[in-house]
Amino acid sequence: MCGISGIAGFKNIGIPLLDSIRHLEYRGYDSCGIAILGSHGIEVRKNIGSVDEVNERERLSEPDGKLGIAHTRWATHGGVTKENTHPHLSCKGDFALVHNGIISNYQELKKELTREGHKFHSETDTEVIVHLVEKYFKSSKDSVRQAHDAVEKAFIKAIKRLEGTYAVAMVTIYEKDKIFCAKKESPLVIGIGGDTNYIGSDFNAFIDYTKNAVVLDDDEYAVVSKDRYFIKNTANGETVRKKITEIHWDSDMAKKGGYPHYMLKEIYEQPQCVINALQVDKLLIKKISDMIIESKKTYLIGVGTTYYVSLIGEYQFSSVAGIFTPAISSDEFKNLAHIDKNTLVIALSQSGETYDTLNALKYAKNKGAKTAAIVNVMGSSIARLADYTILQGSGPEICVISTKAALSQMIILLMAAIEIAVRNKKLTVKNKTEIERHISHLPEIIQRVLNEKSGFIHTIAQKYSHINNWLYLGRGKYYPIALESSLKMKEVAYVHAEGMPAGFLKHGTIALIDENLYSIMFMPPKSDEDLYRLSSGSAEEIKARKGFIIGFHFGDKRESEKLFNEEIVLPKVPDIIAPFLELVVAQLFAYFTAVALKRNIDKPRSLAKSVTVA
Ligand code: F6R
Repeated sequence: MCGISGIAGFKNIGIPLLDSIRHLEYRGYDSCGIAILGSHGIEVRKNIGSVDEVNERERLSEPDGKLGIAHTRWATHGGVTKENTHPHLSCKGDFALVHNGIISNYQELKKELTREGHKFHSETDTEVIVHLVEKYFKSSKDSVRQAHDAVEKAFIKAIKRLEGTYAVAMVTIYEKDKIFCAKKESPLVIGIGGDTNYIGSDFNAFIDYTKNAVVLDDDEYAVVSKDRYFIKNTANGETVRKKITEIHWDSDMAKKGGYPHYMLKEIYEQPQCVINALQVDKLLIKKISDMIIESKKTYLIGVGTTYYVSLIGEYQFSSVAGIFTPAISSDEFKNLAHIDKNTLVIALSQSGETYDTLNALKYAKNKGAKTAAIVNVMGSSIARLADYTILQGSGPEICVISTKAALSQMIILLMAAIEIAVRNKKLTVKNKTEIERHISHLPEIIQRVLNEKSGFIHTIAQKYSHINNWLYLGRGKYYPIALESSLKMKEVAYVHAEGMPAGFLKHGTIALIDENLYSIMFMPPKSDEDLYRLSSGSAEEIKARKGFIIGFHFGDKRESEKLFNEEIVLPKVPDIIAPFLELVVAQLFAYFTAVALKRNIDKPRSLAKSVTVA
């Protein structure tokens, strides 16, 4: 959604503060700003545009100071304007504040504050918070105002008035060495750096400076200075002691490393991500499999890409393990799921912060379900909320569009399906070993496809980049692959692509087909006989109506030699890993189409990496 950062240090923090919002830009990038506390008070510099654009105009790192906060915005309340950009100031400019989340009662608060004489400069929900703090600080008695914790008291009073979700950070001229922050349902972490402390929406805010972090929980607030910090419960003011988490990510992992875009880098990291997924502790896979076996029903939930991962999981559990584990899009979970104490809900989330998934998981937990999660970000809300969490170890995914994290989750679900299949006697131990051997070759085969095919995929993508509408078709487990692939095309290239089961086509959509409609057919290998025959049949239906088809396939001989107008031929591989290879091809196809169309690849319009609103 938005990115928050803050630094309390002993020397000028302009440059590291600017750096930190560069690392958070994937969370929101329509505008950004900083507030630095210097000898003359708080200096705010902000504007609309990317961090680099704003920096060029406003010289964000220039103000001198040892304490500051910064923000990258993804607009929710109020358009993309300089006035709506954070940080927001109190009337007298003595408090500056940044916020991520949505304050649902901001309109009543704004009315109250306006009546009392506060002047608002933005249309945001955020601005009410800083005026509330100002109000409570000013209304405290002189003697209280002199007290060392007067600002803290006003801050907490203000926070307690808020309804909705928030991660908030504030600086003030009355406490020149402290950052005040609080959290409810939007993420906030503190980086412990010895003589400099940090705050951030996630570890990327300070990963270049420290690997030690403390994760704030809901309804906690913290006061952070350069060499100290404390955390308290917002409701009762009691001190909370928390353990320091060591971040395993490397700062180099979060850099582009010579690739033109993070998306391409992350696509190319997939062989390693699959290796990491395959190396997830077997005991963890066994535990999640036990949970599935012991539950009467299991739902897989996620949203956007992770819904499609859940759907792949549904197919894998059904075909490999012989159990039905419905996938539900998290935003629709409450409308569909029937929960009791024998239900297991497994949440899939890259960021671990997605509101819809977090909310669905909380709902399930409240109704007595057991919960598990497969998550990429350690210490994230979903990782901490679930009864049982597998950290997938894919490393930071910076591009807003998910690629490597999704593939890793698919592999982890597949391993669980195999484990259950053996216990359900659907697979012998010998078969299991054989299948695992096939999967163990996936990293090198993906690498081969990346090395040998990306040039050709680039050419094809460029050639068809003028096409405005695509159908992405697949049967069986190639259907969720088609859905996920079409989502990649939509979000990165802004090109309409509709994913659909190939068998569904003839029930209506076929009316669209003529020589102007372009399709991609995700073919299975011929070894999957039924699916192969049926998928070829669907392609024939399109061909008969002069539709244009690009076939992704494994080089199998077909009866009809000219079934496809173009084809991307992949190495022959066992059926169990075939869909993943086609996904990688589709990711590259979307990427190169977006390059041809000169899109904003790593930060597509209107998207944000972690969507923390309903
Ligand atoms: C697509 C994409 C989104 C996310 C979705 C869930 O490329 O990134 O569809 O998959 O917003 O996000 P997480 O996985 O962070 O819960």
